[in-house]
Amino acid sequence: MKMNRHYDELKASYLFVEINHKIAAFQETHPDQEIIRLGIGDVTQPLAKCVVEAMHAAVDEMGTKAGFHGYGPEQGYGFLKDAIQGYYAGRGTKIESDEIFISDGAKSDLANVLGLFDTDNTVLVPDPVYPTYVDDNVTDGRKIVYAKTSQENGFLAMPDESVKADIIYICSPNNPTGAAYTREQLAQWVAYAKANNAIILYDAAYECFVSDEHLARSIFEVEGARECAIEICSFSKIAGFTGTRCGYTVVPRELERDGMSLNKLWLRRQTTKFNGVPYIVQRGAAAVFTESGMKEIQANLDYYRQNAKVLADMLDECGVWYCGGKNSPYIWLRCPGEMKSWEFFDWLLENCGVVGTPGVGFGECGEGYFRLTAFGDAEKTKVAAARIKAAIQALNK
Ligand SMILES: Cc1ncc(COP(=O)(O)O)c(C=O)c1O
Repeated sequence: MKMNRHYDELKASYLFVEINHKIAAFQETHPDQEIIRLGIGDVTQPLAKCVVEAMHAAVDEMGTKAGFHGYGPEQGYGFLKDAIQGYYAGRGTKIESDEIFISDGAKSDLANVLGLFDTDNTVLVPDPVYPTYVDDNVTDGRKIVYAKTSQENGFLAMPDESVKADIIYICSPNNPTGAAYTREQLAQWVAYAKANNAIILYDAAYECFVSDEHLARSIFEVEGARECAIEICSFSKIAGFTGTRCGYTVVPRELERDGMSLNKLWLRRQTTKFNGVPYIVQRGAAAVFTESGMKEIQANLDYYRQNAKVLADMLDECGVWYCGGKNSPYIWLRCPGEMKSWEFFDWLLENCGVVGTPGVGFGECGEGYFRLTAFGDAEKTKVAAARIKAAIQALNK
């Protein structure tokens, strides 16, 4: 028996283990101090009422002979694909129903889509970024090159002609930096992908946070992207589905490599290796795109946006450099006092009782930076902002 030895090459993920370890140690020595967690990447607002009602109705339907649903179409029910098509059309982006594939979330598809490509391809991953992209390719044994980012380029990697890659990850708005691409910037990536016969895997998990009209919500807003990109989307952040699980992937009909249609390949892959997302969940997801659904989820998104504003305003007042926060639930700040990421983590916990995420945990280029998130409770976020402001002002004295 031969095992996949590439699993040995995975770096152990100490980030959240270490954070929890430090919080536990702090709690022991400061039992009365209330800790505010601004490190979580999970949503906290409940599901929208219309989503809950749609799922209740679907459960009732399933309990009747006439309304029972067994195996559904592996690529998703037409009613949900039509709703997604309408969501794109509402923003002026045309995609076809058979280009949409419903999934149980972006994380699965980000990994599964790699199965379409030979392991002998080079992958380009921005640094810092959502760590899963790296691990998905390490376990397949693919060569990874990093696109380094920094404060100078606003933590947005741009194509470098001297680097040759076959698969390019773009995450916009980015986790952890919150930085998002304009259409013009994405057009440069599309040109690079076409020139190099590469494929862009565009992770749009946070597109719903984009409100600036110069920024792209979908890579398919860019001309030529249909010939070189796959878009991976999620209901996790737009509608609080992190525990409910639903997402979708868009594979354009025009996308071809090596004489093969990626849309046809993906359909074959899904119908072979996947048995679909539960009917009840898909009914809940479709409710997101109704008129009342859109209003309800906007209220939830506004709640997080307001938290982001509270944190961003506080950093502005303190003169701390940051990006994100405006079109993203993530605020990526430069650690005050030239502190390193973990140093600032300890300082923040000790002086403010606030927990965030050290930037270096997302890649080497994250050293000296720190991620705060807007997914917390509004009142607690305000308290945290006031504590951080007072502590930074004392530090600067
Ligand atoms: C950039 C990015 N992509 C994908 C995901 C996973 O999304 P899902 O819940 O749909 O699997 C996350 C989750 O935090 C994320 O940050």
